[in-house]
Amino acid sequence: MNESIILSVNNLNVSIKSKGIVSQIVHDLSFDVNRGEILSIVGESGSGKSMTAKAILGLLPENSSVSGKVMFQGRNLRDLNDEQDAQDVRGAKIGMIFQEPMTSLNPVFTCGDQVMEAIVLHQKLNTKDAKLCWHP
Ligand SMILES: Nc1ncnc2c1ncn2[C@@H]1O[C@H](COP(=O)(O)OP(=O)(O)O)[C@@H](O)[C@H]1O
Ligand SMILES: [Mg+2]
Repeated sequence: MNESIILSVNNLNVSIKSKGIVSQIVHDLSFDVNRGEILSIVGESGSGKSMTAKAILGLLPENSSVSGKVMFQGRNLRDLNDEQDAQDVRGAKIGMIFQEPMTSLNPVFTCGDQVMEAIVLHQKLNTKDAKLCWHP
């Protein structure tokens, strides 16, 4: 594998069953992301951008099915066996910033505190050291 590729999505298909009807949401999607590269996926509302991101992180709703390969740092994220296995990667090495701030963020706490929570949990740092991650 090319060493500079950090994320490789191959032939990703996602479908959702709703009210007895199966709809294919993501059709045979493949792309690579290199270390340090920013990749933007652009498309109209409802075209499957969020479902693609959720499929990569294994966060799809129960009524969905997925096929394809999601290689991240040499590991197929679709093979993560249990919740602990998934948590070691998700939030620690790969994360998602959800679109809707009013449902994803708690307005009582600062954004910094909420970002820090993930760092404290995953990197086993205290809050002072975690803060140094973005205020070195
Ligand atoms: N939980 C769900 N159940 C059924 N259909 C869904 C669900 N979530 C998303 N969809 C459908 O999947 C399609 C893609 O949605 P989404 O990935 O959120 O689009 P985008 O992020 O590109 O706006 C849409 O047609 C949407 O209605
Ligand atoms: Mg979206």
